[in-house]
Amino acid sequence: MSVLSKTKPSREAGRIEISSLTVEYKLGGNSKHRALEPTNLILKPGTFTALIGPSGCGKSTLLNVVAGFVDATSGGVVVDDRQVEAPDVSVGVIFQHFALFPWFSARGNVEFPLKRFGLPKAERRERAMEALREVNLHEHASKFPGQLSGGMKQRVAIARTIASDPDVLLMDEPFGALDAQTRLQMQELLMDLWGKRKKTVLFVTHDVDEALRLSDDIYVMSNAPGRIIKTINVDIERPRSIDRMDGRFIEYRSDILRLLRPSENDQTSTL
Ligand SMILES: Nc1ncnc2c1ncn2[C@@H]1O[C@H](COP(=O)(O)OP(=O)(O)OP(=O)(O)O)[C@@H](O)[C@H]1O
Ligand SMILES: [Mg+2]
Repeated sequence: MSVLSKTKPSREAGRIEISSLTVEYKLGGNSKHRALEPTNLILKPGTFTALIGPSGCGKSTLLNVVAGFVDATSGGVVVDDRQVEAPDVSVGVIFQHFALFPWFSARGNVEFPLKRFGLPKAERRERAMEALREVNLHEHASKFPGQLSGGMKQRVAIARTIASDPDVLLMDEPFGALDAQTRLQMQELLMDLWGKRKKTVLFVTHDVDEALRLSDDIYVMSNAPGRIIKTINVDIERPRSIDRMDGRFIEYRSDILRLLRPSENDQTSTL
């Protein structure tokens, strides 16, 4: 198995608690930009949660605080017993743009972050290949990013993250740059991985159907500065077929789309 699983305690890990979190960005001088209104969320270990909301409402900001990249202005985030103040190996992050090193092969990209665990080279290599196998890319391990399609690059990025076996996966519009067909394949792959590894996933998307296909819970955010205006527990059995548009799927979808319409979104303070 992967790097940390051998040493991990057996208790469930990956609980995220976000309490009264606000974020204001400093803009120079005394001016500030309020990006996130007080937000409270608890994500249970092993659950899949989507965050959806208008552009600029603070989704990436929220995810970046959980990742330890952005500081809370008030309130905070606790992952298991750790108050988040900086990035940590227990939390993996996957962005829309893959951030691969162009001068490393796919395997090299997956192998590189494993250096921080002080593993011998042969073991790093073995674990990198294992992760690439999990995303069906082992046959392309020696290719460089420039030789890979968008979907393949994102699979390398996913392999790179899961190779470190984090308890939490934060994904910021990870499939946003992919064509529709590739996106569906990536969703299937992600569900497969999540089913096997049961990480806690926080997934930002603009795509309502994607959120419905993947998530246990969907949090809908208001216009900027964002706050959670609705929680939807997606009570549809898995695996969720994209062809079978059952009644509940359509109901959830129209509910979310209504909330995301600008006029509705402005008036949701009572929800
Ligand atoms: N480093 C920063 N400094 C100042 N303002 C910022 C910074 N990062 C984000 N913002 C502002 O904070 C607000 C929230 O941004 P954020 O990126 O979190 O939104 P988002 O919901 O992820 O949007 P999108 O859907 O377009 O990705 C926006 O108004 C944005 O301009
Ligand atoms: Mg964003």
